[in-house]
Amino acid sequence: MLNNQSLSWQTIALHWITGLAFIGVFALGLYMGELTPETGKFQMMGIHKSLGALILIVALIRIVWRLKEGALPPASPVAAWQDKLAKAIHGILMLATLAMPVSGIAMSVGGGRGVDIFGWQFIAKGDEIVWLQELGGAIHGLSVNIIIAALVLHIAGAIKHQIVDKDSTISRMVGRAS
Ligand code: HEM
Ligand code: HEM
Repeated sequence: MLNNQSLSWQTIALHWITGLAFIGVFALGLYMGELTPETGKFQMMGIHKSLGALILIVALIRIVWRLKEGALPPASPVAAWQDKLAKAIHGILMLATLAMPVSGIAMSVGGGRGVDIFGWQFIAKGDEIVWLQELGGAIHGLSVNIIIAALVLHIAGAIKHQIVDKDSTISRMVGRAS
């Protein structure tokens, strides 16, 4: 059951598994750009792709769970615009956990390389599909700044709830609210 003070264990577990893995894979993606083939770029890319593809599975489960359970009620009364902004950012972040793996997979499949998850063939190599590779690459690259902005606002919002509103927004997301 959802109430203002507690969240389901599924919401909490899915938030932290997807969220922390997402931040890790995102940081790895940015770090890969600094590497060269000599400094392990392709090994790192293999890890990035494998973890990124795995996130898709958890993200899909999470979205189904959120649709089933409905949006989170605010932990304390906030202005309507703040609630709308928070929910819009949740929507953007949720979408990003789908759009990033899907566009990454599109890039690899379009490039004819298929997708391996830690050595297990998830999608076989095939012919190049240039438009798919370009579309995937454009979405993967153009989303980066939008995601950074959404994450900054998301984390700033959580801190604001903790310090200014002094409510249970963070504590209920770590399972501490009663
Ligand atoms: C250290 C980083 C993070 C912190 C401190 C944090 C904190 C929180 C908190 C406190 C809530 C509850 C908001 C409420 O009660 O209205 C929440 C919800 C949410 N967060 Fe995060 N979050 C973090 C990272 C992320 C990441 C990386 C993503 C997605 C990529 C994400 C996506 C969401 C979504 C979609 C919700 C809505 C509730 C749900 O469906 O789980 N968060 N977050
Ligand atoms: C949650 C999942 C993912 C996130 C958050 C993510 C994030 C990123 C980021 C931030 C970059 C750097 C982009 C830039 O510097 O402009 C990147 C690059 C890249 N990602 Fe992902 N990614 C994810 C999943 C995947 C998947 C599943 C694949 C492929 C199967 C993939 C393939 C790539 C490739 C090939 C690059 C390098 C692109 C280039 O050099 O042009 N990513 N990713």
